[in-house]
Amino acid sequence: MNETLITLERVSKVYRVGEENFTALNDVSMAVGEGAFMSFVGPSGSGKTTLLNLIGGLDRPTTGEVFFNGASLGNMGRSQLAAYRRENIGFIFQTFNLLPVYSVYENILFPLILNGRKESCVRERVESMVAKVGLTEHISKKPAQLSGGQCQRVAIARALVKDPLLILADEPTANLDSENSLQILELMRELNREYKAAVIFSTHDEKVTRYIRREVRLEDGKVSWDKRRDGAEIET
Ligand SMILES: Nc1ncnc2c1ncn2[C@@H]1O[C@H](COP(=O)(O)OP(=O)(O)OP(=O)(O)O)[C@@H](O)[C@H]1O
Ligand SMILES: [Mg+2]
Repeated sequence: MNETLITLERVSKVYRVGEENFTALNDVSMAVGEGAFMSFVGPSGSGKTTLLNLIGGLDRPTTGEVFFNGASLGNMGRSQLAAYRRENIGFIFQTFNLLPVYSVYENILFPLILNGRKESCVRERVESMVAKVGLTEHISKKPAQLSGGQCQRVAIARALVKDPLLILADEPTANLDSENSLQILELMRELNREYKAAVIFSTHDEKVTRYIRREVRLEDGKVSWDKRRDGAEIET
């Protein structure tokens, strides 16, 4: 049995828009196990990004609590929350968010430098991550010299290089064609198995469901269903 990594307890997020309150998440509770491979699905505006941001400590809930390995994020101050993100979480974004002046190698090295590691001590690790995502030939290129699929591979390697317990990916395949999307999902699944990092991603994409072991559907900020598939890939 996997241990619980994340617990959401009655989490709500209410935004103040002018004079009105807008409820983006409404009383969401769930537990996510170590090593999970799951997605948040649902229509635009249903709260997927909001939920990822709360789990990632990028934002705080209006009510309710988020726990990571039993520790409440609500009890952490700003700098503790920043350390929580830096040490435990790899983020992958729809638009890749690579540093344009840095090479593939430097983009992947960057989170380790932020965590106080010396380049000479981690060079091999960075190079092996580059190889894992199939970019050895492109290691010295800058993001503008890469395709979208290659950029997302860099982002995956950057998210994994610090060996995080959790990867949060907000629509990681939204800017990719269907062949690249499937390759990226396959890579994420492979690395999830190998590195044991839990992966939670949001998606609109129906094609991804065959890789997913658990799918949580959001509608109007509420969980409308939570489907688990035991066993690995089930063809859809
Ligand atoms: N900072 C904010 N202020 C006010 N309302 C917000 C803010 N951020 C998000 N919202 C609203 O909260 C709701 C949920 O937004 P969210 O971005 O989580 O949706 P989503 O499911 O990720 O949608 P998409 O699939 O389009 O990315 C939306 O109606 C959005 O307009
Ligand atoms: Mg979103």
